[in-house]
Amino acid sequence: MPEFSTGKGTRKPSMTAHEVPRGTDSMPDALPQGEEKAAAVRGMFDAIAPRYDLVNRIMTFRLDVRWRRLAVGSLALRRDSLVVDLACGTGDLCRELDAAGLRAVGVDLSFGMLAAARTDAPLLQGDALRLPVRDGSVDGVTCGFALRNLVDLVPFFAELRRVLRPGGRIALLEVAEPDNPVLRWGHGIYFGKVVPVIGGLLSDASAYRYLPRSVAYLPDPEELCEMIAAAGFTAVERRLLSGGISQLLTATRRS
Ligand SMILES: C[S@@+](CC[C@H](N)C(=O)[O-])C[C@H]1O[C@@H](n2cnc3c(N)ncnc32)[C@H](O)[C@@H]1O
Repeated sequence: MPEFSTGKGTRKPSMTAHEVPRGTDSMPDALPQGEEKAAAVRGMFDAIAPRYDLVNRIMTFRLDVRWRRLAVGSLALRRDSLVVDLACGTGDLCRELDAAGLRAVGVDLSFGMLAAARTDAPLLQGDALRLPVRDGSVDGVTCGFALRNLVDLVPFFAELRRVLRPGGRIALLEVAEPDNPVLRWGHGIYFGKVVPVIGGLLSDASAYRYLPRSVAYLPDPEELCEMIAAAGFTAVERRLLSGGISQLLTATRRS
């Protein structure tokens, strides 16, 4: 049994996120590392939480909704399976999990994101690298667009293996860069120039300048898959979505 309740009655955080005033920078221009990165990421998501969903839908033309649905389907778990959605943000993946008949629990570092969440799933404020979850107690783990925000991926994958039962599944979404040179060029302009303008108009420009730059934190695809396999997973697969602007990593915990 998991050590936390998955009852629908669990209360969400009651504090409301304050909206960042226009023109305020929540993120430094230099890419931070270590604990400085954790603090900066948390502060940035606290600041952009109130308009996070709006900006996401606009900048991905709602493709993000489809990507999350694919991620949940790729788990291929039985109804009522328990799935922890790490870095759950405002609860989009929790809602998809719920709609698929799975029991979701969301975990996120940012109180602002949790306070802005729209989901019935129980939510916990916590660090994906140190989960308050018993060994082998969950059937699946999802994580959407957060790998590049973590301080270190090796302990993250180790933590996934620890909390999953043998045969448990993971589905991790992350941004990607298309292989095709023309698409890559167009994507670079859109992600690097247009998205920061949209983000700046609707939310916090520095956060949406950080978004394209934060891709630099990601290991290359082969290394990423090797890290997952080395943590104790089998059937590691990487699927490119929507012409390669997004990626879905799936794997099964080895016995
Ligand atoms: C780009 S948002 C993605 C939110 C959501 N998964 C989605 O699909 O929209 C990244 C999220 O990762 C969270 N995050 C970053 N580092 C974290 C950590 N160490 N533990 C838990 N959450 C973390 C942030 O607070 C933020 O809500």
